Amino acid sequence: MVENLLDLSHLQFVHPTTLGTDKVAGAKVKAERTDNGVRVTRWMLDGVAPPFYQRAGGFGPDQAIDRWQIIDYTPPAFVRLDVGGARAGTGAPQGDRSQGITMRNLNAITPETDTTTHYFWAQAHDFKLDDPSITELLYRQVHTAFNEDLGVIEAQQKNLVAFGESLPPPIDFLQDAGGLQARRMVDDILAQEASGAGAKAAE
Ligand SMILES: [Fe+2]
Repeated sequence: MVENLLDLSHLQFVHPTTLGTDKVAGAKVKAERTDNGVRVTRWMLDGVAPPFYQRAGGFGPDQAIDRWQIIDYTPPAFVRLDVGGARAGTGAPQGDRSQGITMRNLNAITPETDTTTHYFWAQAHDFKLDDPSITELLYRQVHTAFNEDLGVIEAQQKNLVAFGESLPPPIDFLQDAGGLQARRMVDDILAQEASGAGAKAAE
């Protein structure tokens, strides 16, 4: 689930009716370590608004927007998204989001067993706050997208269970940089716990 959220290039393929456009997967992506996690940043400049943004933000079907995805992972399993779009060329990359919409999305993933997890999420937005139908629309769109994720992730998990160690090693692309950093952080934390360093630090 963490890797799914850290690699949002999947929007283009898994969520074409809500969040995907043909500009997502090809956009440059930057992954970096932060003080306590991993941040992945992607800007998609001067592209069409995805269907979800058209419905929620009132962008026209041919209107160009500058769109961002800023993803913050905090171990072991929290992922916060800062996502949105603004009319192209109005300064969003420089920090002026006044001509656009911003949404914040929290994912609090809570593993249940080795192969199952709870997935709690919440969505906030900064526009049309006096219109409850927008909140409802956002909820439905995000819910639709996450159900699409579920289909893919369940199929992946079935393969992992069925073939396990006999699967060929994964092939990593640039878009996997954030997920790889997250895996390394978790491995480091597990190694620290196993060596007792975590217990000492807590004393
Ligand atoms: Fe997704």
